[in-house]
Amino acid sequence: MALNSMNTSQLTALQVMQDAPVIPVIVLNDVAHAVPMARALVAGGIRMLEVTLRTPQALACMEAIAKEVPDAVVGAGTVRSAADAKAAANAGAKFAVSPGYTSAVGQACRDQGLSLLPGVATGSEIMMAQEDGYTELKFFPAMQAGGPAMLKAWGGPFFDVRFCPTGGVTPQNAHEFLSLSNVACVGGSWLVPADALAKGDWARIEQLAREACQLKLIS
Ligand code: 3PG
Repeated sequence: MALNSMNTSQLTALQVMQDAPVIPVIVLNDVAHAVPMARALVAGGIRMLEVTLRTPQALACMEAIAKEVPDAVVGAGTVRSAADAKAAANAGAKFAVSPGYTSAVGQACRDQGLSLLPGVATGSEIMMAQEDGYTELKFFPAMQAGGPAMLKAWGGPFFDVRFCPTGGVTPQNAHEFLSLSNVACVGGSWLVPADALAKGDWARIEQLAREACQLKLIS
């Protein structure tokens, strides 16, 4: 769907997950990198951008992307508190991703109009997120917590949940996840390598995005 026909103020978690096979997990240390990086990802076909709240520059980077790259949808990663959710929404984020889940974070995201992909690694965490109405979840850290075999096992009892596995997902193993019926997309940091950012190698980031968009085809 074209972004201009998508009402991003009412973006759902499923729309975030289904826009491309991969959500890039982005760590930015320099605000000057944010806009050219976002343009490169968009040029390569990736529009849902998870900028992690792991650096002091993250919020300014989100703001710059939200203002200057209209074809990107900026989201906040590493959302761990209600304050994080509020700051992210103020910076222009349209969605949030959290490494774990608490009801307080869920409530804050709803209050801020942010769709949320809550992070889970156990059956109990899935049940807690489901109790609060979430059926689209991030499986984190995916490889370390059981990989594709874990997702296959969860497909029985949690048949109504769709996952975005993140953590240890690579271009080499992504198809093992993407071929599962309960996986809507994967997350990964490989699309935005630190050395490409440092060198301003936007062509490489665009190429990595282009290749990521092809991943479904080989599953
Ligand atoms: C995350 O922050 O969600 C993950 O740490 C990304 O993991 P990766 O670097 O293994 O892709």
